[in-house]
Amino acid sequence: MGILDKHKLIERNATLLMVLSLLVVTIGGIVQITPLFYLENTIEKVDGMRPYTPLELAGREIFVREGCYGCHSQMIRPMRDEVERYGHYSLAAESMYDHPFQWGSKRTGPDLARVGGRYSDEWHVDHFTYAKGVVPESVMPPYGFLADRVIDGHYIQDLVSTHQMVGVPYSDEMVESALADFTAQADPNGDYAGLEERYGEDAFGTPVNVRNFDGQPALTEMDALIAFMQVLGTMVDFSTFTPVANR
Ligand code: HEC
Repeated sequence: MGILDKHKLIERNATLLMVLSLLVVTIGGIVQITPLFYLENTIEKVDGMRPYTPLELAGREIFVREGCYGCHSQMIRPMRDEVERYGHYSLAAESMYDHPFQWGSKRTGPDLARVGGRYSDEWHVDHFTYAKGVVPESVMPPYGFLADRVIDGHYIQDLVSTHQMVGVPYSDEMVESALADFTAQADPNGDYAGLEERYGEDAFGTPVNVRNFDGQPALTEMDALIAFMQVLGTMVDFSTFTPVANR
């Protein structure tokens, strides 16, 4: 009996085919799944990653609320064209504090994973107010109204505490100081020592941007959104980063 004849036997016997298929799938499944139980963490640890400050987190909420995700992903894939355009491909660790994550493949506009520091705050204000004024061929809708929406942060402690609950390593002190840190980040003339101590260079190795992001006196949604834009992709120092595989 040739091998094809043997296979004919399996194909003609539905029960045998089913039992053997199940066996093959089971072995395949075990081979794929078992190693994961022996890994402590599938996310490679990198230096510099810190939870978002309360103001950045508020900006992220606005990003989600406005559906920016519908046109912008936050995930640079390890393909040459993407890496040349946007910078180092995204690491899993870079979005480990994102709930919900903002990966995706829908890109009407560019990927935003490393937009932090690429433009000035003023550029962002102009661009959000009227994108076509900055990039004439742009189809991005105007978001100037964000500069009129004052935010007092009455919900910010709950927001930080919710993220703590789902596993972002905010300390209890960070939760308690959420409102103070929220206002401190947009007021360079105020006292932001506590904010720096909790989120800054000495704690995580990454400085915190403390600025009046939208350039007007009131703390608005525009401040929060720009604070979020300016931190994206800036936490990991890629001049010193080497992937585990190359160490
Ligand atoms: C209808 C699709 C669309 C939506 C919705 C949208 N954008 Fe854009 N965005 C674009 C396009 C297209 C560009 C490229 C042209 C330009 O710079 O305006 C762009 C560019 C940008 C840039 C500049 C990126 C770079 O690297 O040059 C930023 C930052 C940005 N968008 C942020 C946002 C944010 C934040 C929101 C939500 C409040 C948003 N966008 C919503 C389409 C969109």
